[in-house]
Amino acid sequence: MQNKFEDLKTQAFLAIKVIKDSDELVALENKLLGRKNGELTNLMKSLKDLSADVKKTVGQLANEIKTEIEIGLDNKRRELRQAEWGTLIEKERLDITQPALPKKERGHFHPNTIIQKDLENLFISMGFMVLDGPELESDYYNFTALNIPETHPARDSQDTFYIKGHSNWLMRTHTSPMQVRAMQKYGVPLRTIVPGKCYRNEATDVRHEHTFYQMEGLVVDKGISFAHMKGVLEAVARHLYGQDTKVRLRPKFYPFVEPGVNGEVTCYLCKGSGCRLCKNTGWLEIFGAGLVHPSVLKEGNVDSKEYQGFAFGFGLTRLVMLKYGIDDIRLLESGNMKFLEQF
Ligand code: DAH
Repeated sequence: MQNKFEDLKTQAFLAIKVIKDSDELVALENKLLGRKNGELTNLMKSLKDLSADVKKTVGQLANEIKTEIEIGLDNKRRELRQAEWGTLIEKERLDITQPALPKKERGHFHPNTIIQKDLENLFISMGFMVLDGPELESDYYNFTALNIPETHPARDSQDTFYIKGHSNWLMRTHTSPMQVRAMQKYGVPLRTIVPGKCYRNEATDVRHEHTFYQMEGLVVDKGISFAHMKGVLEAVARHLYGQDTKVRLRPKFYPFVEPGVNGEVTCYLCKGSGCRLCKNTGWLEIFGAGLVHPSVLKEGNVDSKEYQGFAFGFGLTRLVMLKYGIDDIRLLESGNMKFLEQF
């Protein structure tokens, strides 16, 4: 009987030695000392069949062995834990002498997009929906539907890129073609803005570029007047340049509006007294606008006796240049990282 206990002890210590992790430790602990079927537990249970004095000596030995095994297991547990902490500490070690890792580049919006989103939010707050339109546009929507027939001289000032072999298709010269598209698709009443890319066949220089951005606006409803138009444009001007900004509207011919105006705001730099930015006029020209011409409403299937509307077109690119003091328009489409990283 004594031998059985001695053997069990030898086995137990051999097993403890090769334990690699705490799962194995718990398993061995159960195997040896488990209350129900632990090997040592069972062996101790069998003591009850022995005579009283043998029971006493063997029982004492059994208890000693049990304590030794428990201590052996505890030591192993401590050893394992220390090893685990060691790797944890190693993992969290901070090497303050390590050179800085290369900076992760973060992207950001293009200045055009910054201004576009800012104005979109303003117009959304006034109940406008934001529409997108095709950049490759038909002659009809770009010109004819906007009251610019084929022989009209206004076409000359908006020379653009035509598609070879498809003379009815061109790169849109403004966002205005979306006026008729929007009326045809959504009907009236209508309140929409259309930001987007436009194209013109320009000899490029610091102020002219073949690709630029505009933001069109169109409101059609019953009883719309010039006063509504002025109110909305003033809200935009104040949002862009502050509450004391004034708007000046002067007559200008655009075939798709009647009357048409050229819209200026007080120069935000000199507050109207005249400076380099506004070429000493005190005013910055930033949009064209007017009351929608009846023949444009007609193209949009809108009855001009019942409905009136106003439209406006902002030069988004111009707003960007004014805001950031960019003096060469070509930088905006250049993809030049040295330029773009400044925003
Ligand atoms: N489409 C015009 C341009 O590109 C700008 C414009 C003027 C738009 C008057 C309008 C408007 O909607 O009413 O020069």
